[in-house]
Amino acid sequence: MLFPLLRPALFAFDAERAHELTLTLLARASRAGVALSQGPASLRSHVAGLDFANPLGLAAGVDKNGSAIDGFFGLGFGSVEIGTLTPLPQPGNPKPRLFRLVEDRAVINRMGFNNGGIAAALPRAVVAKRRGVLGINVGANKDAPDRVADYAHGVAAAARVADYVTVNISSPNTPGLRDLQHGNELLDVLAAADEARRAPIERPRLFLKVAPDLDPSAIDFIARAAAAHNVDALIVSNTTVSRPALRSAHAGETGGLSGAPLASLARQRLADFRSATGGAMPLISAGGIDSADEAYARICAGASLVQLYTALVYQGPGLAQRILRGLAKRLARDGFATVTEAVGTQAA
Ligand SMILES: Cc1cc2nc3c(=O)[nH]c(=O)nc-3n(C[C@H](O)[C@H](O)[C@H](O)COP(=O)(O)O)c2cc1C
Repeated sequence: MLFPLLRPALFAFDAERAHELTLTLLARASRAGVALSQGPASLRSHVAGLDFANPLGLAAGVDKNGSAIDGFFGLGFGSVEIGTLTPLPQPGNPKPRLFRLVEDRAVINRMGFNNGGIAAALPRAVVAKRRGVLGINVGANKDAPDRVADYAHGVAAAARVADYVTVNISSPNTPGLRDLQHGNELLDVLAAADEARRAPIERPRLFLKVAPDLDPSAIDFIARAAAAHNVDALIVSNTTVSRPALRSAHAGETGGLSGAPLASLARQRLADFRSATGGAMPLISAGGIDSADEAYARICAGASLVQLYTALVYQGPGLAQRILRGLAKRLARDGFATVTEAVGTQAA
């Protein structure tokens, strides 16, 4: 409730500074024991072999280094995905690299996997209380001589700690990274990731995160490759390099666009992957989810889980509670005892 009052102060900072402040405040809140509801039993579900208290997840990129894991669980999220983490620490692209498009309720970022490296982040995940599912999203260093080896390294390291590991080959801000979504490069990455996650005794689930900027043949290929390499779920999707009509002054910035203008493309890709997988693989929808209505619509369209990032920038930390309450109401209204019953009921 306080957020509308605080927002002008936060927005007076440049976007990256405001983000750092928010992480610090959340980490403090969790140390003070703040833990909001994760919603009623109707929101619980079992997806890809994991138990989720609710279907709402924090998308990757918000807490890249895992510095406020319990803070985000404390807001009510059923899952928190940290990262993208790379084998070596790297500074990312020169600043400014994060832009608010306020009139469009959107963000453009070209962060470029700025992170402290996976070895520095994992101990934070180990000591976190984690009252939900923890995902670790891994990527390749910008200058990696062998990108497949970077994914194998990241998956093997994260596998010891994570409930699921996400292979992120869909960031637009590392040159050439998205080429890994195609042909033999995709098969090599997935084979290496699947092998790497088998090393620990307790093997984590393997998720693959894709871009929204894919044509139908690429979508079919990814769906088949993911199934062949034991991927447990697909996250659809990352930010887009396309530019739907935008009004903000920052519309021309290079990078990935997220938030409200991404919603229609993300809905379309969810439908595409639903038909390409024949409903056989769990789908996690991300892109422009900003309300209980939108989250519920994605679930009915075939998403087993949803994730968000940009709407938090505009609506603040209370958004998770609003979405959880709204989802529970919609399930009850439509006569579903559990969220699982609603998945795919309106799929095309
Ligand atoms: C500033 C920013 C940084 C991001 N960093 C990452 C990242 O490191 N790894 C990743 O997989 N996705 C990253 N994303 C993409 C989000 O996880 C999400 O897929 C995308 O923003 C769409 O959801 P949204 O419209 O709710 O923001 C980032 C997004 C933003 C806005």
